[in-house]
Amino acid sequence: MSHAIPLTTNNGNALNSRAPLKVAIIGGGLVGSLAALSFARRGHEVHLYEYREDIRRAELVQGRSINLALSQRGRKALAEVGLEQEVLATAIPMRGRMLHDIKGNRTVVIYDPCTNQCLYSVGRKYLNEVLLNAGEKFPNIHRHFEHKLNYVNFNEGRMEFKRAPSKEIVEDNADLIVGCDGAFSTVRQQMVRAPGFNYSQEYIEHGYLELCIPAKDGEFQMPENYLHIWPRDEFMMIALPNQDKSFTVTLSMPFKVFKTIRSSEDLLNFFHKYYADAVPLIGKERLIKDFFKSRPQHLVSVKCYPYHYGSKALILGDAAHAMVPYYGQGLNAGMEDCTLLLSLFNQPNLSTAEILEQFTELRWRDAHAICDLAMYNYVEMRDLTKRLSFRWRKWLDTQLFRWFPNFWVPLYNSVSFTSMPYSQCIANRKWQDKLLQNVLISASLAFVAMTAFKYYGGFQTITL
Ligand SMILES: Cc1cc2nc3c(=O)[nH]c(=O)nc-3n(C[C@H](O)[C@H](O)[C@H](O)COP(=O)(O)OP(=O)(O)OC[C@H]3O[C@@H](n4cnc5c(N)ncnc54)[C@H](O)[C@@H]3O)c2cc1C
Ligand SMILES: *[C@@H]1O[C@H](CO)[C@@H](O)[C@H](O)[C@H]1NC(C)=O
Repeated sequence: MSHAIPLTTNNGNALNSRAPLKVAIIGGGLVGSLAALSFARRGHEVHLYEYREDIRRAELVQGRSINLALSQRGRKALAEVGLEQEVLATAIPMRGRMLHDIKGNRTVVIYDPCTNQCLYSVGRKYLNEVLLNAGEKFPNIHRHFEHKLNYVNFNEGRMEFKRAPSKEIVEDNADLIVGCDGAFSTVRQQMVRAPGFNYSQEYIEHGYLELCIPAKDGEFQMPENYLHIWPRDEFMMIALPNQDKSFTVTLSMPFKVFKTIRSSEDLLNFFHKYYADAVPLIGKERLIKDFFKSRPQHLVSVKCYPYHYGSKALILGDAAHAMVPYYGQGLNAGMEDCTLLLSLFNQPNLSTAEILEQFTELRWRDAHAICDLAMYNYVEMRDLTKRLSFRWRKWLDTQLFRWFPNFWVPLYNSVSFTSMPYSQCIANRKWQDKLLQNVLISASLAFVAMTAFKYYGGFQTITL
C-alpha cells in the first residue's frame, strides 16, 4: 500500500542476483539486530558491532524502557524475517487505554472497537534476544560485542573500534556501513559533517523515570490488557504489562518538577496528590527505593536529511529519526525502515548508491511526520485525553469508523494499525478535520436558520 515497490519477502535470497556486499552494522539493538538478519537472508556478509556486552548474557539491561508497545509496522517487519509469531506468542495484547483520573476512577477507551486490533506489550530484552538468536542460524553474520565505534571514514569504508574492557583499538572495513547506533549515533555524527546534511535535535522539558507495579500473589494488580494512563496536565504516568505479571510504569514530567522532589516525604505527598490510586499498587517502600535509585532521563527528537552517504553509509532507526516516545512508534518506525530498505535491495536493477538515494527520498517525509506526530501526542496524552472535546472527537471518529471502515480511519488507528505512510496519515487527518468542520458549520447554520424560522415564523415561541 505504501510505496510503489513490490515487496518480496522470505526467500529474497533466491531472488537476489546482486553481488554480496560486506555490510557492517553498527549497533546491535532492536533495529540493528533486525537489519543484520535482513541482510544475511539475502546472502550478504554481515558484521554486527555492538558497544555493550551480549544482551543474552547480561543480567541487568542498562537501557531505555523495559517494555515497548509493538504495533502493525513492527509486526510486519518481524513477519518478513519469520519471527512475528514467536514474538507475539509471549506478548501481552493491549486493547485500549485505561485512563485513571485523579480520584482513581477508571475509564476505558478501546483502540479499535471495529476490527479489534490492539497494541502488544513486549519486553525489550526478550525481543532483542529473539532477533540475536535468529541470527545464530546464519554463518554469514559475525557478531562483535563490546566494540564501540570510535571513528569512521565513509569514503574509505574504514572503521575504528575501541574494545571493552581492554581499550584495544581494532580496525575493519566494509562496502556498506549501516548506523543503527541509536539517538546519539556516532555514524550520524560523521554524516553531520558532510556538506548539505540537514540536521536538527530538540530536547523536551520533560524527563522520564521508570517505576514498577509488582505482581501480587502471582497476579496482575490491574487489568492487564490495557495501556494504563494517568493524564495530569503537565505530568503523565503510563504503565505497560509485563510477562511476569508486573507493570512497568513510566513517570514523565518536567525536570523542574522532578527537582522539587527531594525527600521520601516530598515523594509520597506528590504521589498522594496526583497518583493516589497507584501508591498501594507500587507500594510505598518500593516507590521510594525505585524513584531515588535512578535519575530522570532526557528525551530527544532528531530529524535529518539525507540518511545516506554515497554508496557507503546509511543510518536507520533512532540514529536517523529519534522521537519522543508518546506515540509508541520509535521502534515500529525503525523496523519499518528495514522493510523499505530490503524491498529496495530486492530490485535487481538498482545499484547500491541508487538504493540508498531512493531510501532517503522515500523515507524522509514519513520519518519527519512521525517525529512531529510523536511531539503532538506529547501534548495530547497528558492533556487532551482528559478534555471533553477530545473524547467527543474520539467518539465521533469511532462512530464514523464503524459506519465507514474503509473510508474513515482515525489518525491513531492509521498510524498504529496500518502501514499507511506516516505523512499520508497526517494528510488524511487534515482532510477529516476539514470535512468535520464543514459539516459542523453547515449543521450550525441549519440550526440557526431553523430557530429563526420557528421564531419569526411564529409557529411557536422559543422556550429555553
Ligand atoms: C521511555 C521510552 C519508551 C518507548 N516506548 C516505545 C514503544 O512503546 N514503542 C515503540 O515502538 N518505541 C518506543 N520507544 C522507542 C524505542 O525505544 C526506540 O525507537 C528503539 O529502541 C530504537 O532502536 P534502535 O535499534 O534504533 O536504537 P537503540 O535501541 O538505541 O539501539 C542502539 C544500539 O547501538 C549501540 N551503540 C550506540 N553507540 C554505539 C557505538 N558507537 N558503537 C557500537 N554500538 C553502539 C547501543 O549500545 C545500542 O545497543 C520508546 C523509547 C523510550 C525512551
Ligand atoms: C534543509 O533545511 C532547510 C531549512 O529548513 C530547507 O529549506 C531545505 O529544503 C532542507 N533541505 C533539504 C534537502 O531537505
